[in-house]
Amino acid sequence: MFQRIFGLFGGKGAAEAGTSGGARSAQTWTSAHQGTFRASFAEPNLTEAERQLVESFSDLYYRKIDNFRGLHTIVLSWMGYEMFKCPLDLWVYQEIIVRERPDLIIEVGTYKGGSALYLASVCDLAGHGEIITIDIDPTHDPVRPRHPRISYLTGSSTADDVVAKVTEVAADKQKILVILDGDHRCEHVLQELRIYRRFVAPGGYMVVEDTNINGHPTYPEFGPGPWEAVDLFLAEDNEFYADRSCERFLLTMNPRGFLRRR
Ligand SMILES: C[S@@+](CC[C@H](N)C(=O)[O-])C[C@H]1O[C@@H](n2cnc3c(N)ncnc32)[C@H](O)[C@@H]1O
Repeated sequence: MFQRIFGLFGGKGAAEAGTSGGARSAQTWTSAHQGTFRASFAEPNLTEAERQLVESFSDLYYRKIDNFRGLHTIVLSWMGYEMFKCPLDLWVYQEIIVRERPDLIIEVGTYKGGSALYLASVCDLAGHGEIITIDIDPTHDPVRPRHPRISYLTGSSTADDVVAKVTEVAADKQKILVILDGDHRCEHVLQELRIYRRFVAPGGYMVVEDTNINGHPTYPEFGPGPWEAVDLFLAEDNEFYADRSCERFLLTMNPRGFLRRR
């Protein structure tokens, strides 16, 4: 099995890890030691039965959240700060950040700041990048983490003053990763997609979170949401496509949501 995996992806990364990892102490670690693993991944190629299995599990995983009984499927913490994510999606973010080295990450939907702190921590390890995170609701501000790479912006993601501030912060940045995780109603997400596309350079990502709701495959009663917004956006903007290789772990809260600019 392992031979099959290493055979597929080539031995270089594994060999480097084997010869250089052990001798280093924690004190000597810097971002210069970042690895060179750069496999190119395919989108999942599933049979109909496998697809149904994945969808059933995704639905179960999402529906089983039960805060009262403490079954926290999608409520996670990073360094003690709460966030709503699927851990496998966090791994995809880590890989995107290390590979693309964004100068700036624009996150819409701060909530308690756990996801912003996660992104900042990965940027710390990569030795590069900053985060601007936007939320209309400042209620959680007192419990949000303070981190030198994170700036908080209060207001609606689509308000002129917020977009103007983001534009100012983005002005001297080349590579920008956008994550839309705010108001999930279709009209709002579509408006965000139309606004925030301008910050993404060719090859960069704009991730629409929670495309799994409204029955794709879970939470069917939500109504038109991120999935439908992605449909409308991709129909009008052919510079972006859904990079389904980001779904290679099969379980994701963002099916067809990892949009990439050609
Ligand atoms: C799903 S939570 C964000 C979760 C967070 N990214 C995480 O992973 O923990 C959605 C957040 O979007 C915020 N929000 C709702 N409408 C918004 C808007 N128009 N502009 C900015 N933020 C908004 C809400 O206040 C809420 O905190």
